Amino acid sequence: MSSHKESWGSRVGLVLAMAGNAVGLGNFLRFPAQAVQNGGGAFIIPYLVSFLLMGIPLLWIEWAIGRNGGKYGHHSTPGMMDVIGNSSWWKYVGVFGIFTNLTVAAYYCYLESWTLAYVWHSVTGTFAGMDANQVAAYFNDYVGIQEGSLISVSTQAMFFYMVTVLLNLWILSRGLSKGVEIASKIGMPLLIVFGIFLAIRSLTLHAGENGAINDAAVGMNFFWTPQFDSLSNPKVWLAAAGQIFFTLSVGMGSIHCYAAYVKENEDIALNGASAGWMNEFVEVVLGGSIVVPIAVAYLGIDWIQANAGLSMGFKTMPTLFQNWGPFLAAVAGLAWFGLLFFAGITSSLAMGQPVMAFLQDEYKMTRNRSALVFGVVTIILSLWCVVFYGAGAFGEFDDWSGTFALVLFALLETVAFVWIFGIDKAWEEINRGADIKVPIIFKYVMKYVTPVFLIVVFIGSTFAPVGGDWVGAFGSLFSGNGWPFDAGSIIGKVMHVGIEDTRWFVDGAATKTFIIDLTRILLMLTFIGIALMIRHAWKKRTATV
Ligand code: ALA
Repeated sequence: MSSHKESWGSRVGLVLAMAGNAVGLGNFLRFPAQAVQNGGGAFIIPYLVSFLLMGIPLLWIEWAIGRNGGKYGHHSTPGMMDVIGNSSWWKYVGVFGIFTNLTVAAYYCYLESWTLAYVWHSVTGTFAGMDANQVAAYFNDYVGIQEGSLISVSTQAMFFYMVTVLLNLWILSRGLSKGVEIASKIGMPLLIVFGIFLAIRSLTLHAGENGAINDAAVGMNFFWTPQFDSLSNPKVWLAAAGQIFFTLSVGMGSIHCYAAYVKENEDIALNGASAGWMNEFVEVVLGGSIVVPIAVAYLGIDWIQANAGLSMGFKTMPTLFQNWGPFLAAVAGLAWFGLLFFAGITSSLAMGQPVMAFLQDEYKMTRNRSALVFGVVTIILSLWCVVFYGAGAFGEFDDWSGTFALVLFALLETVAFVWIFGIDKAWEEINRGADIKVPIIFKYVMKYVTPVFLIVVFIGSTFAPVGGDWVGAFGSLFSGNGWPFDAGSIIGKVMHVGIEDTRWFVDGAATKTFIIDLTRILLMLTFIGIALMIRHAWKKRTATV
């Protein structure tokens, strides 16, 4: 079989690229927000348990599926699933590995472009002298949110977005070792240096100095005091498992793709674990030491509990840096948004490569051509997120592609690899050429615990009751009042729970519901389009054999 020829230049490059894939905006923006929204220390135990029982096993499973696929000339998930599955239908499960990367890249590159813009604005002093409200308002202006309109328009946001996409495409078109690997070798160390600088500055904040009202220790204690009662709260478990998915980039298809370029007898056990642990270090140690302690030092715990969210990094941090004087504020802004940019780009590159690999392997495109196709489709999908940002399109992409699809694909691939391909062959595949001895307990964890864990997460997110109150929900069901779906559960979203008016048009004008439903249709059509491409590619292949 002919497939495109690429390979990693060095082991360090491979591990840094894989770590770069995992370390992303999720580590610095999503993790602190999730932790705060789920009770600080209450979040940490479910998070660590999810990492050990689900995250680490999935990393090894995905590295192994990827390297095995590479042996057969497949660098994207349709072909990989085809070779481990027992029916030709398994290749369609591989649609997820293309779909998720493409649709997450669509909104992720937009988020990434904000960080580039904010590097620029921090260095040029845009935020100097602005108060908290002005900085927050600046963000809304930046993304072009207009009161009373469904459409968000911003030339500035479009400009930085295009620069970001073109930069991604340029790096991708240079290939793995000359593009992705070099970007990771530059980006990852710089990101860690910036992170250490900010963490030190953050942890040395004291009440009364530079306008701080609390010691940094107050935020750290909130974050780190474990609360064992959270262990019985399914909502916290779901949030923790969701964070593990997003941060490790498991269930996406990007790890598979990078691993497909690893040679048949080269280690994946140690490499996989190293990249995973490096991500955890960056997330828990660095990601946990910046936003929360700084915000708590200046604004207090109550404030952060009421306001924690993804946009805090943009709406709040630039104001807080102003407390350190103009020079340090500019340096901190450069470090913070620069760190986010490097974290973002090393992840978005990993979303582009699988899509390109699919086009190169199955449609025999050249690298440049596949980069171009990836770029055009991403821009089209992104534009939808950019223009309808304020109407909720961005959030829909994140919910369906960045959350739900990950869990579903992870569940299906685990079943395929561990139960259909078979745990003995799977275990042999993971351990071939291994530089460490993977503890045998993981063989049983992978066979029984991880699939059950994934099924529970899947059912949990599909049927989550309002407020995460499962006991109350069963009570309601048995007393004949039905199941009270949470607005954020999969079924709740499909049924538009919590939306009072579900009409598409009111007085001739389109509603938010209309945009949200169109966004879902767009995502569905993308999924179907990829499935049809796979069908076409396989038909051609059988015709030529
Ligand atoms: N794993 C990447 C992140 O954390 C997608 O942002």
